[in-house]
This record gives sequence, structure tokens and C-alpha cells, in this order.
Amino acid sequence: MSPSPVLEKFVIRLVREDELPALEWEGEYTHFRNLFRQSFEEMQLGQRVMLVAYAAGSDAMAGQVFAQFISADPKYADGASRGYLYALRVKPAYQNRGLGRQLIQAAEERLRARGMDVSTIGVAKDNMRAQKLYERMGYQIVGEDPGRWTYVDHQGRVREVNEPSWLMAHEL
Ligand SMILES: CC(C)(COP(=O)(O)OP(=O)(O)OC[C@H]1O[C@@H](n2cnc3c(N)ncnc32)[C@H](O)[C@@H]1OP(=O)(O)O)[C@@H](O)C(=O)NCCC(=O)NCCS
Repeated sequence: MSPSPVLEKFVIRLVREDELPALEWEGEYTHFRNLFRQSFEEMQLGQRVMLVAYAAGSDAMAGQVFAQFISADPKYADGASRGYLYALRVKPAYQNRGLGRQLIQAAEERLRARGMDVSTIGVAKDNMRAQKLYERMGYQIVGEDPGRWTYVDHQGRVREVNEPSWLMAHEL
């Protein structure tokens, strides 16, 4: 029998404005700079939350997840009963320690606190690892999405994303 995993302590809390650059990791997500800023402004309006995780005693960001309370498409988030989790990421050095699960639970807690009873999440069809994690947490596929969207990167260039995805949902 393999030894049971030691649960590591992580602090999960709302991101501060001065931490936005740390969401870019080591340059991997610099292209999302404008999106991070826009999400932060929407958090100040009460429309979403951006959660970040730190390993206890460390000042290096270990992971993140964002939750959207309202979206242009109500099948993701309708501002009342359904909220959408996205941008879940755990740095490779912190993966497989249960942090992904803890981040989702923390985001679900934020939806519950708003009186929401359904949590949705999108997952790229080729991301089996994330899909399996969501299934183990009670999420089921409820639809699909072509995953086509655009954003403006940190250099003002329009970037196109084309990531066919499953839409998964879970009753809270
Ligand atoms: C998907 C992702 C967020 C998962 O994060 P994670 O912190 O590794 O997730 P968890 O540790 O909670 O769970 C993953 C595995 O660790 C195991 N695990 C859970 N708790 C554990 C613990 N306390 N100790 C050891 N292992 C544990 C789980 O059983 C799971 O096993 P698996 O290998 O069968 O999947 C991470 O892989 C990631 O950032 N990937 C890149 C970005 C991405 O794909 N994001 C999702 C977009 S939809």
C-alpha cells in the first residue's frame, strides 16, 4: 500500500493589485496582462474574484483560479445561480499536492457565498488531466464550446484562441 499523501498547507486569498505582475509567472503569461488588469477591475465591481495561492511560509505564488459571477453567455455565469471558474493554474513545482483541488474548492466557496448553486468550468478537449480532476470533484460534461475568442495582448496585438472545449458543471 502506498503511503497516504501529506496534505500541504496553502494560503488561498484574493489577489492584491501589486501582485498582478506575478500572475504573468516567468513571462509565460505576459500576453494576458491586459486581461488580468480587466479582471481585476471587474473584481472591484463585484463581478468576479481572482484567487491566488501561496505555500505556507513562501512568498512565491503557487497557483491561481478566477471565478466569474456574470458573463455575456448565461450558460457560464448568469449573475444569480450559476458562476464560472476559469484560469486555473498550478505551477509545475506545486502540482500533484492537492492544490488544484483546493483552488477549485475555494472558488466554489465564493460562488456559494453569493447564493449560487451551480459551478461551471470549461476544459480543453485535449486536457484529460484537468478533466479527470473535475470529474473526481463531481463535475459532468453538460455541453461543448468551440472555444474561439480573441484578446489584445500586452503589445496591443489581437490574439486569436481556438481551443475546442467541454463545458462541465457541478451542483454546489
Ligand atoms: C490541472 C492542474 C490545475 C491540476 O493541479 P494540481 O495541483 O496538480 O491538482 P491536484 O494535485 O489537486 O490533483 C492532481 C493529482 O494530484 C493528486 N493529489 C491530490 N491531492 C494530493 C495530495 N495531497 N498529495 C499528493 N497528490 C495529491 C490527485 O489525486 C491528482 O491525481 P492524478 O495524477 O490522478 O490527476 C495543473 O495540472 C495545471 O496547472 N495544469 C496546467 C494548466 C491547466 O491545464 N489548467 C486547467 C485548465 S482547464
